[in-house]
Amino acid sequence: MKPLYDGKAKTLFPGPDPNTVIVFFKDTVTAGDGVKRDAIPGKGALAAQISCKLFELLHNAVPSHYIKQRDERSFLAKRVQIIPLEVVVRNVAAGSIVKRLGLTRGQVFDPPLLELFYKSDALHDPLICEAHALALRLATPHELSQIKDYALQANAILKEYFLGVGLKLIDMKFEFGKTPDGEILLADEISPDTMRLWDARTNESLDKDVFREDKGDLLTVYREVARRMGIL
Ligand code: TMP
Ligand code: ASP
Repeated sequence: MKPLYDGKAKTLFPGPDPNTVIVFFKDTVTAGDGVKRDAIPGKGALAAQISCKLFELLHNAVPSHYIKQRDERSFLAKRVQIIPLEVVVRNVAAGSIVKRLGLTRGQVFDPPLLELFYKSDALHDPLICEAHALALRLATPHELSQIKDYALQANAILKEYFLGVGLKLIDMKFEFGKTPDGEILLADEISPDTMRLWDARTNESLDKDVFREDKGDLLTVYREVARRMGIL
């Protein structure tokens, strides 16, 4: 089948009807805009299954593109136009914000901090503020307000869920899309590729930082997340 879109970690195929797509998870893992990359057999299936379970968990609270799991590496989703924003919610300081603002890794944000990045490979996804998002007409004021509410709501639900299985949700990245009717839906994926999870007891990374920072075996930690979530 000819893909609609071939990304770094996922391929989108046409779904059974024109309003749907199949989101297929590849075994590729990349970091630093794809500069660092590897193929890890089994990674796609783990990220797909974790993502499906998390979309299902959010189902009643946050409208999303997720329809249903298809097989162990793909799910069926509503077809949306992706809004070129990466919406990052941070509960604890880690990653880029530590360098950018000179913070201490592990510092808590209460309330959670929401940041917007402009999705542009050519510009390396720069941090922007709401005024920029509106000036660039990436979203209307109403859409932006919905996007922020959905992201914070999803964060609150996921944070509580993960704590229940011994994991701290440090931060995560959400993407949103728009249906032909103009409805805003949570889109893309929600997996250890797009979030930071630390063991609640040891603060050990159980996410893509293991690959970004060469500090362990990615498959082992993704399996551990899946196991705690009751998937494996
Ligand atoms: P950052 O600390 O590098 O800005 O990342 C914040 C969160 O967003 C972290 O959970 C990883 C995730 N993320 C992505 O999913 N895709 C990206 O391209 C980047 C840079 C971060
Ligand atoms: N997602 C980006 C990449 O694949 C960066 C990252 O997540 O660290 O290059």
